[in-house]
Amino acid sequence: MKVYITRNIPEAGLKLLKDAGLDITVWTESYHQPEDELIKVLQQYDAVLVSGPVKVDRHFLESCRHLKIVSLMSVGYDNVDTEAAKALGIAVGNTPGVLSGATADTAFLLMLASSRKAFHMHKEIIRGNWNFWDPTANLGLELGGKTLGIVGLGKIGFELAKRCVGAYDMKVIYHNRGRNEEAERAFGAVRVSFDELLQQSDVVSVHTALTPETKGLFDKNAFSKMKPSSIFVNTARGGVHNEEDLIAALENGTIWGAGLDVTNPEPMAADNPLLNMPNVAILPHIGSATVDTRSKMAAIAARNVILALQQRPLEHAVVENVRLA
Ligand code: DGY
Repeated sequence: MKVYITRNIPEAGLKLLKDAGLDITVWTESYHQPEDELIKVLQQYDAVLVSGPVKVDRHFLESCRHLKIVSLMSVGYDNVDTEAAKALGIAVGNTPGVLSGATADTAFLLMLASSRKAFHMHKEIIRGNWNFWDPTANLGLELGGKTLGIVGLGKIGFELAKRCVGAYDMKVIYHNRGRNEEAERAFGAVRVSFDELLQQSDVVSVHTALTPETKGLFDKNAFSKMKPSSIFVNTARGGVHNEEDLIAALENGTIWGAGLDVTNPEPMAADNPLLNMPNVAILPHIGSATVDTRSKMAAIAARNVILALQQRPLEHAVVENVRLA
């Protein structure tokens, strides 16, 4: 059986696939393989392990209907037309859980970096602007006892709440479709409406999936309801915020700062005004980028491939394997 991998992955995943006797090919070029070329190549393969922003839309899936699985090395699956996959009987796997701690660390880092203008200060030193000690300059915000508002409180949000309560005794409020009773028990988290969350939070952190309902959720209207002293953090998907509205909200002081690990589009252009705003911290979508986490993600993605090819249920399924032995 032949497996195609759209970008090099950690050895933990490669080894599992090789040990299972699979014939693997890895795309190793330093650019993303064009979609039509990828579709053509995949005609010779039984499974694809997708790492990176490959658009697995209806056209892709219909052109590759012979595939037994599209195994994502990500928790997010907004790049996949899951309805089309289901209709075509192609299994889709993802890698939830293992990246929650690393991604929450990234959200925490961005919150703190924004609150203390850390990335900007670092750039100022490089520019030769560390001159004299000015007691009135470079002032940031403190987080102790403040309110953290989580939009989409699942596993990653839970890990962020743990960090914020432990480090800063922050109060946690959240907005979800359903209750998160575990977070309510662990942190006294309180479920509120979206508007209440915007109005009450000192830090708003986004952990929701990108769906038609959440696309552009943070727009001019949403930012206008936030406190002028608040920080907006997004480590989920750039499509959840409207970047022009975010720039305006920061420029006119509607909100105080922002920390982004995801942008819209990605990669962000080097001349994006957000990169030069003092209260903004931006990272290039590295939420899950630790040695441990990426190895675990690669291993799950590889096991999902092996299970699909053995006609067994996936370890983590977005679209379950219908080809069961
Ligand atoms: C995920 O796992 O969804 C990360 O954002 C990488 O895409």
